[in-house]
Amino acid sequence: MGVFEGQVVAITGAGRGIGREAALLMAREGAKVVVNDLGGGPQGGGGDTSFAQAVVNEIKVAGGEAVAETSSIASMAGGKALIECTMDTYGRLDFLINNAGIIRPRKITEMSEEDFDLVLNVSLKGYFATIRAGAEHLAKQGGAIVNMGSPSGFGHWGMANYCASKEGVVGMTRAVARELGEYGVRANVVRPMSGGTNLGIPEVMETIAYQTQTLHIPPISNNWLLSHGVDSQPQHVASVIAWLCAPHSANLSGREVYIVGGHVALVQEPELIRSQFAPEGWTFEGLCDPMVTAALTYDVRNRYTGK
Ligand SMILES: NC(=O)c1ccc[n+]([C@@H]2O[C@H](COP(=O)([O-])OP(=O)(O)OC[C@H]3O[C@@H](n4cnc5c(N)ncnc54)[C@H](O)[C@@H]3O)[C@@H](O)[C@H]2O)c1
Repeated sequence: MGVFEGQVVAITGAGRGIGREAALLMAREGAKVVVNDLGGGPQGGGGDTSFAQAVVNEIKVAGGEAVAETSSIASMAGGKALIECTMDTYGRLDFLINNAGIIRPRKITEMSEEDFDLVLNVSLKGYFATIRAGAEHLAKQGGAIVNMGSPSGFGHWGMANYCASKEGVVGMTRAVARELGEYGVRANVVRPMSGGTNLGIPEVMETIAYQTQTLHIPPISNNWLLSHGVDSQPQHVASVIAWLCAPHSANLSGREVYIVGGHVALVQEPELIRSQFAPEGWTFEGLCDPMVTAALTYDVRNRYTGK
């Protein structure tokens, strides 16, 4: 008996990369899988529906059950179509994995409205669209939502649109975890790093090279946990996704898990680190008092100036 025997999962962007590995793994563990993918390019656009069908074929050859669904989830109609396909085909929804994603790396001074909107439509609104349509079905018997975030969300030079979408997903996940908890539905975020997918385009590598080699500052936040020699691949990330659906992780909801190859970590929620109290409420003058400024900022340095 597999861990997900008799259960149903809908996975967006499951034609390639991390989503594909999650689909294959959960099918091996007995889940019936709805494989969503429009087969687009890493920066959006395009469309090759054969990717979703190829994953379905692979699952069926291995003795599993799956169906392809090729809507773009970047609209409310697309999210609804995915959930309707799931309910029409299998009559239930236990797990929803929001994995579809695109990137449009640009400096903020060169980022167009379209660059911003397209990325947020796939990686934030699209996640809302599927959750909005799927929540009532998940709530019938309980289940889990897994949303893909990114370590880039901690801050990544040249990726403001992507960072905005991924941190939006984190906030939305915390809210959804609170709202659906009483129905036995958990919601968590995965922040992965993985080679072997379509998103590692040269433009992203350039953002990292510029920040590390020219500015000499870490590309992502202040800490970048490495894979300790393990070649980080989509199947490592897929294992975390499946684990967050499995009963083994039942005490996790509204949380984030970081995975890069051989290193997996629970991410701490933001904490207050320096605190000052003003009985009358804070004023500009009060904050400019050197003692107060020192208390709030001591041993904090501006790590983004490159100096
Ligand atoms: N690979 C990494 O290192 C990495 C790092 C951080 C976050 N992520 C996130 O993990 C997720 C999977 O990334 P990946 O590296 O496997 O990428 P990938 O490009 O290999 O796969 C993404 C899939 O999403 C599909 N897709 C894109 N827009 C869609 C839409 N509107 N509707 C339906 N499908 C759509 C694409 O066709 C593609 O097959 C993404 O959300 C990505 O942002 C990946």
